[in-house]
Amino acid sequence: MSLRAELEQCVSAWAAQHFPDLPAEPWVRPCTDERHGHFQTHLAMVAAKATRQNPREMAERLARECELPKGWEKATVAGAGFVNFRVGPEALGQAIDALRQDPNLGIIPVKRPETIVIDFSSPNIAKAMHVGHIRSTVLGDSLARLLRRLGHQITRINHLGDWGTQFGKLLLAYRAAGRPPIEPDHAIDQLEEFYKKGHQEAESDPAKMAQARAELAALQDGDPERLKDWRLFCERSAEHFRRIYERLGIRFDSIRGESAYHEDLPRVVQTLLDRKIAETSQGAVVVRNPSIAEEPYLIRKSDGAFLYATTDLAAIQYRTEELKADRIIYVTDARQQLHFRWLFDTSKRWGVKTELEHVWFGTILGPDRKPLKSRDGTPLKLVDLLNEAHERAAAILTSKRPDLTPEDLGAKAELLGIASLKYADQLPNRNLDYVFTWEKLLAFDGNTAPYILNAYVRTRSILRKAGLNQRPSAPVKIAQPEEEVLARLLLRFGDAVELAAADRKPHHLCGYLYDLAGQYHRFFEACPVLQLPALRDSRLTLVGLTGDVLREGLSLLGIPTLEEM
Ligand code: ARG
Repeated sequence: MSLRAELEQCVSAWAAQHFPDLPAEPWVRPCTDERHGHFQTHLAMVAAKATRQNPREMAERLARECELPKGWEKATVAGAGFVNFRVGPEALGQAIDALRQDPNLGIIPVKRPETIVIDFSSPNIAKAMHVGHIRSTVLGDSLARLLRRLGHQITRINHLGDWGTQFGKLLLAYRAAGRPPIEPDHAIDQLEEFYKKGHQEAESDPAKMAQARAELAALQDGDPERLKDWRLFCERSAEHFRRIYERLGIRFDSIRGESAYHEDLPRVVQTLLDRKIAETSQGAVVVRNPSIAEEPYLIRKSDGAFLYATTDLAAIQYRTEELKADRIIYVTDARQQLHFRWLFDTSKRWGVKTELEHVWFGTILGPDRKPLKSRDGTPLKLVDLLNEAHERAAAILTSKRPDLTPEDLGAKAELLGIASLKYADQLPNRNLDYVFTWEKLLAFDGNTAPYILNAYVRTRSILRKAGLNQRPSAPVKIAQPEEEVLARLLLRFGDAVELAAADRKPHHLCGYLYDLAGQYHRFFEACPVLQLPALRDSRLTLVGLTGDVLREGLSLLGIPTLEEM
């Protein structure tokens, strides 16, 4: 158990005994400034408010009454009613001793594992993946890793947009051109061209628009020729996606797009009508709920076409009934919040018991604070972003390591470039927009992947110098303040993982890893590792533990490590 978790038990036991009506929150968190203490709680202020008592007196009472774990110093009161705690050297020594023997590095599996579906990435067929897809892909992957690490059963689903209205316009132009072959190498460019052409035509000519609708209807009715074309578009797009996922190290348990639900849609709409959850309105079928919005939620158009919403309703049924999901997490950008509020509300009215969560994120901005675009103003393609990351990382590596062979350079630049992108994408609180700059993301001296990877590489090089290839597990003797701070940080890894998973916010883990890497550098400056025989094994253990925590932490963010820069 982490130090925090141990203290949490004592503090919540006090709360449960004296204030049973308070919620069972995590009451204890690490102090931001260690001069005040190692941990802090605001419980006394909450309890005082709830019972109209003096917060300062309540804090004194908590400090006096709360029974602390063995080896902790007497709690102190600060400010308006905070209570601060310090762990004593002996208890710290015991905790670090337990950590060095813990294969889980302090991560505690959840008591009640759930079956969780994570719906992420989910790009649309016949379009290139662009910069907007990176956050869903990277965040979804990390959440899957974090939740799995805590013991949940995870199904990763790519809910491809492979059945939408775009196919009417695409087929229109493709068939007008005589259904030419789609070359694997430029498939996406070709398909985008056809779509653009079909779109322009349909938007400027009502007759063409009607034709595009007819194309879509023919496809959805199962016309063999159109189905064949559609399959080709899907295959070529899948190839494009596969290459990107491979470079990003992303995998799915199931690639099950919108088209998989096609046959269920009439039944979904009928059931909602029968149950009076939906109603007909001017030939369309809608769901109403004024507490969400004035405008109703459209689930079947007046021409009989089904929508994104209808497919999502069918997908919830499938995931609940077939996959036995306890929870479904959707990772998309902020603009889909209203869609998911409707979706979740309609599902609940339908009787769905599965927990439904929308994990949304902000936009990646360019230096002008507008959504990041390519130089010519078109959406920035993800491949171009990955290639540029690779090239920039290669340039930096070449200046640091002119001796690298071309293969070595290529492999390291790919790892470092993609690691930097992934890290930078997870570093800001996901609910915020963030400004993208190459310099910031690849810097070796900031809160970046290169900085943390560099700390990891240093831990590995000391172990190699000591003739070890994995961490020793010797008792830790804390001789210097830098070691003490490092040990306490190492003991917080489990908390950071738990918080990142619980909040669905990997940035908590980024913040932790950055602190750990920074403290490791301070420790390294102040504490000779190999020179002092009496402390050598203890220090090597701390070095190795730091390396293991950094590697495991990065891996939960989807970032692999390297042994040498
Ligand atoms: N294809 C959608 C898009 O590109 C994202 C799908 C998200 N998942 C879902 N089940 N609605 O915006």
